[in-house]
Amino acid sequence: MGVVIINFKAYKEGFGLNGLKLAKAIESVADKVDDYIAIAPTSLDLQKFANELSIDVYSQHVDAVDFGSHTGRINAEMIKEMGIKGSLINHSERRLRLADIDFIVEKFRDLDLISIVCTNNVATTAAAAALQPDYVAIEPPELIGSGIPVSKAEPEIVENSVKAAKDVYPEIKVLCGAGISKNEDYVTALDLGADGVLLASGVVKAKDPKAALEELVGLR
Ligand code: G3P
Repeated sequence: MGVVIINFKAYKEGFGLNGLKLAKAIESVADKVDDYIAIAPTSLDLQKFANELSIDVYSQHVDAVDFGSHTGRINAEMIKEMGIKGSLINHSERRLRLADIDFIVEKFRDLDLISIVCTNNVATTAAAAALQPDYVAIEPPELIGSGIPVSKAEPEIVENSVKAAKDVYPEIKVLCGAGISKNEDYVTALDLGADGVLLASGVVKAKDPKAALEELVGLR
């Protein structure tokens, strides 16, 4: 039993009405298991999804700004007001500067939002852990969207990231992601010491996303 965060990215299947249908299918699976299952839809869908769902909704990104003259930006206060649980920060597809990550993690702590800082290797995982976020999520970029699970292809990166992060900040939770789609990928991640997984295409792009998630969490 662990944590499963599903990133909808900017996939067509995960946006708007398609996204809401997908989110409801995910919610119906979440109701049947003890695993913590949450989603990260596009910023445009955050408010609607948070209103309509019982599962936690995360943002895919926030900007390191306060309220003010920042055209097109989304800040931590905005997502808090929408009832959003937290956010991915520094995703591989939306990298940030170290000072910005620090700014956001600190602000999340003050606002009681959950911070999930994405990293790409053991060294950056240790560096991110020094900022004391709630989670780090290690995702080797070359495996993202590849269908090759990080927990099987690069088990040492998961194991060493867990160790590095917990050495720096023992309370931190560690996710791994990239290519995760099957129950054995998830179970292997947990066996390697991770608290859960961060995934996208394995569920969002699946022919039958509900069946794919049920298989992932061991219901099939
Ligand atoms: O945020 C999760 C993501 O980057 C991993 O993508 O498609 O390999 O599960 P995917």
